[in-house]
Amino acid sequence: MAEAVLGGSAEDVSIKEAGLRYEVDGEIATITLDRPEKRNAQTFATWSALARIGDDLPEQVRIVVVQGEGPSFSAGIDLRMFTPEGVPGQGSFSSVAQLDNVSFEQRIEQAQQGFLWLRRPEIVSIAAVHGHAIGAGFQLALACDLRIVADDVKFCMKEPALGLVPDLTGTKPLVDLVGTAKAIDICLTARFVDAQEAFRIGLAERVVSGAELTQAVRDKAAELLSTNRDAATATKRLLQGARGRTLEEQTAAERVEQAARIKALFALS
Ligand code: ACO
Repeated sequence: MAEAVLGGSAEDVSIKEAGLRYEVDGEIATITLDRPEKRNAQTFATWSALARIGDDLPEQVRIVVVQGEGPSFSAGIDLRMFTPEGVPGQGSFSSVAQLDNVSFEQRIEQAQQGFLWLRRPEIVSIAAVHGHAIGAGFQLALACDLRIVADDVKFCMKEPALGLVPDLTGTKPLVDLVGTAKAIDICLTARFVDAQEAFRIGLAERVVSGAELTQAVRDKAAELLSTNRDAATATKRLLQGARGRTLEEQTAAERVEQAARIKALFALS
């Protein structure tokens, strides 16, 4: 029942059919949301394809860029999901009331897999965001480690306005980036956050013109690739764990990582 209602066939959909483009060039993988005529609206097939990209990511990849084709980064979930007809082959939320909670939560968990891998220590993910990044689009940008934005960017956590909660992994990174009070303000008003505010509150690392966005992301990727791969992975692991540890625990974790690093460096020489 759960499979039929919420897109059980999504796994069979190709990356292209899921509205994505995917290219790997050496150490850099680029994922492009590629349904500009629908403002890169996302479906269960999109999230399933994202998860598959993560599962199959070549080992040499160190940088993953997520960007959007056309005028918007992403207008969020495909609103046809809320119509009785739904998205062809993927069902509709109107049938969700029939699901038991366990099945429904499992389906959401599957969707979340499309976002979670972007935080892996072995990679740095960069969202290149322009135009609208609404709902699931905002959460996809939040799933990335860094956000470089065009000056026309408009972030919006629309879910509460639609009677929903943000459930595509976005609430924790939002709170981590801007703090609980600002996250409450942004989510519970469902207002737009423009480029200048995004930069000021720490949502965006850099604001550039739309014409400069691709180059700005390339420059950041080159900077990130200039450091040692294994040291970068270990350092990201340390930084990601820092908030959840005491100073004592964190310094202990630093010792463990450094001992492994120095042993590896001497083993190589
Ligand atoms: N789902 C499905 N189709 C969409 C979506 C969407 N989320 N957003 C836009 N489209 C479609 C429109 O229906 C339209 O299709 P049509 O040409 O067949 O009529 C086409 O994309 C272009 O949309 P416009 O509204 O004309 O584009 P514009 O650039 O003027 O506006 C904007 C862009 C602001 C993003 C607007 O489309 C919009 O507000 N979309 C809905 C955003 C939304 O509420 N998303 C859900 C958030 S909650 C969540 O993600 C869980």
